[in-house]
Amino acid sequence: MTVDREPSPGPARYSGTSGVAFLRRAESLFAMPEETAPAQPEATQLETAQPAAPVATIAEIGKHEGQSVTLQGWLYNLRESGKLVFPIFRDGTGSIQGVAHVKSVSPEVFETLKHLTQESSVIVTGKVRADKRAPGGFELDVENVRVVQRVPESDPYPITLKDHGVDFLQERRHLWMRSPRQAAILRIRAEIMRAAAEYFDMHGYIRTDPPVLTPAACEGTSTLFPVDYFGEPAYLTQSGQLYVEATALALGKVYSFGPTFRAEKSKTRRHLTEFWMVEPEVAFMDLDGLMELAENYISHIVGSVVKNRAAELAVIGRDVAKLEAVKAPFPRLRYDEAVELLNQAHKNGQLEQPFSYGNDFGSPDETWLSSQYDRPVMVHRYPADVKAFYMEPDPKDPRYALCVDVLAPEGYGEVIGGSQRVSSYELLSKRIDEHKLPRQAFEWYLDLRRYGSVPHSGFGMGIERVVSWVCALDHVRETIPFPRMLNRMYP
Ligand code: 4AD
Ligand code: MG
Repeated sequence: MTVDREPSPGPARYSGTSGVAFLRRAESLFAMPEETAPAQPEATQLETAQPAAPVATIAEIGKHEGQSVTLQGWLYNLRESGKLVFPIFRDGTGSIQGVAHVKSVSPEVFETLKHLTQESSVIVTGKVRADKRAPGGFELDVENVRVVQRVPESDPYPITLKDHGVDFLQERRHLWMRSPRQAAILRIRAEIMRAAAEYFDMHGYIRTDPPVLTPAACEGTSTLFPVDYFGEPAYLTQSGQLYVEATALALGKVYSFGPTFRAEKSKTRRHLTEFWMVEPEVAFMDLDGLMELAENYISHIVGSVVKNRAAELAVIGRDVAKLEAVKAPFPRLRYDEAVELLNQAHKNGQLEQPFSYGNDFGSPDETWLSSQYDRPVMVHRYPADVKAFYMEPDPKDPRYALCVDVLAPEGYGEVIGGSQRVSSYELLSKRIDEHKLPRQAFEWYLDLRRYGSVPHSGFGMGIERVVSWVCALDHVRETIPFPRMLNRMYP
């Protein structure tokens, strides 16, 4: 057994760092961007280097036109023709072509460049020159280069510029993410996450983080990941919902944002076993209020990507007009109306399988439905039987649940699932028994209906589903740095 011990008080130690250097670093660490737009990447000076020219990033290189700058990065590709070499450098913020003539640099520099290998790390100085034909608008007339680590010819960078199979790339995900397309997707993901939090922060929601280790299921017992919790069974969370219901009744408007887990045995292009969910929950909000929130929320996020990540959308070749169409209000359909449309589609031969009423939509159904609109469609009031135990029945017809699924356009399917929550103690208690959920683990949840119960609603949005749609990807495996799937735990 370990014993809690107070850390012994003592002088703060900043050994080995000069005061000025420490302050400079602290400033850059804690500097707040003035606007809500993402801060442009700032270059950090490598301590050991003594570059002759100021360090710049490729993203901001335009500010230095006509000047000599230092870039810190990697060799992406190299072309040479006789007396000229054209190294393409990348630095994480972008890429730029360098030019060196045998007469414009020293013989050592020319030789070093000429024999540089892919993904060798370098510190390059050169003069920034505007060039309309260059993809980023600028080229770098190389003056000097220092190789930080040279990738040896005997063990070359495994991902060449030719096409590789997706298995090969997934096995090397830690390197694959350096490719321009993958890096652009990760930047768009970061913008989606930033905007996802920003919307709630701007609108008075308090972020409250639920636990990852939980005693019970939230979304059905078949997809729980068990964990041995000191000899007791516990599970990785499937959703923070039950906990944000508690924090909503304490704080009014809340959200959570974190990893969630589903032991999904399905191998689809939409399912991960570990994914990030953002979950708002609001006291006194009904289903109509929730649908309004969902459409404004998605419009804000997609609008932010279009505004702040235009360059990355261009790298991945995304049709931006399709994203620009994503503006609230979104079309709304009752489940019954959606079923009607699916039956029609089957009759017309557009859907292979007939839809049997009372089921949850399958992937082909969602794909077909969501390709009928130029913006997300909100399907509400599913039959209560196919939905979760915590959903409030429609008082007008209790066979239906007050719930909504938001289906992304272009066939991307469900990105949001949410509902109004059961607020009556008696009904919730009955549901817990009917679903054979361990009552003891839900006593605290029932307390929320014992003490000042109110109508309340919330939803969960899967970040990877949104990234997949916004980037028009074939598969969610490219939406997250290190995907976890049925058959993948490495790297
Ligand atoms: O529809 P789900 O299962 O809803 C809930 O978990 C609710 N408790 C949320 C709430 O009301 N607070 O999941 C919500 C969203 C889905 O719409 C989808 O975007 C995403 O989470 N999602 C997944 N994403 C990737 N891989 C999976 N296996 C996913 N399962 C759900
Ligand atoms: Mg769902």
